[in-house]
Amino acid sequence: MNYRHAYHAGNFGDVLKHATLALVIEHLKQKPAPFRVIDTHAGVGLYELDNGPAEKTEEWRQGIGRLYGPDAKPPPKELVPLLAPYFAAVTAENAPGELRRYPGSPRLARTLMRQQDRLIVNELHPQDGLALKELFARDAQTKVLQLDGWIALKSLLPPKERRGVILVDPPYEQPGELERLAKGLREATSRFPTGIYLLWYPIKDPRVIETFHKAVTALNLQKLLVAELMIRRPRDVTRLNGTGLLMLNPPYRLDGMLAALLPFFASRLGEGPDASHRLIWLTGEPD
Ligand SMILES: C[S@@+](CC[C@H](N)C(=O)[O-])C[C@H]1O[C@@H](n2cnc3c(N)ncnc32)[C@H](O)[C@@H]1O
Repeated sequence: MNYRHAYHAGNFGDVLKHATLALVIEHLKQKPAPFRVIDTHAGVGLYELDNGPAEKTEEWRQGIGRLYGPDAKPPPKELVPLLAPYFAAVTAENAPGELRRYPGSPRLARTLMRQQDRLIVNELHPQDGLALKELFARDAQTKVLQLDGWIALKSLLPPKERRGVILVDPPYEQPGELERLAKGLREATSRFPTGIYLLWYPIKDPRVIETFHKAVTALNLQKLLVAELMIRRPRDVTRLNGTGLLMLNPPYRLDGMLAALLPFFASRLGEGPDASHRLIWLTGEPD
């Protein structure tokens, strides 16, 4: 386990993932019934951008740093409501006008949840798992586990609230992780078919992603939406050229929100005119 998210916190992949997760949580909050957020590969939960690994790589400067904080132009007016939940979670960690800390998915979810909602975060790396335990040590609404994420996924479903979002965000260190994702989705949905699932993936070689899309389409799930952002043309397929999110049972109108956000992300986070985006329904019709 070499991957440490601290080197990548706040990068363009995090922006797409976290802005979408925030919109999903806001959707769940429209009803008073409690919901549960399950984060199977959680990281440490909160990152310092001006210190340690994130400061070394500065990946966040091509991510959240272009959207929020002292060096960022404000987003266009019409996108402000769509970015508001995501930015609210970032604002919660920073002094006014600053961008020094960045919430990972656990902290973002925790900031946006209500009193009746629950969060389960799971992280296998011993040190990162411990940091996560410390972060939520006195929090009765959050449970921290240190299991293999795929085992956690099976054992935590269905949640007792029967409503919620499951984020599956593995590090893709091992070959075959995309196949594992498709298998994990099949097993998870057999236990909790009505959950909202967000599965993050990196895009190096787009041909590999097409094969993955075929594999998940073959699962015969009802509503599968894909959002992808390419920051450059994939000429060198050893680089992280883009990022994708596979969404099962996305909330009503999330596709329209992403259709508005993706061109903005491509223009702000991309490397010039070669940046691109796409939003496709692999199965199911738009609402
Ligand atoms: C991409 S990061 C997670 C980032 C986090 N979800 C966020 O958005 O802030 C992936 C995490 O999975 C952890 N990990 C690696 N293998 C795992 C496994 N088998 N089970 C659970 N976690 C694992 C890594 O230590 C790493 O912290």
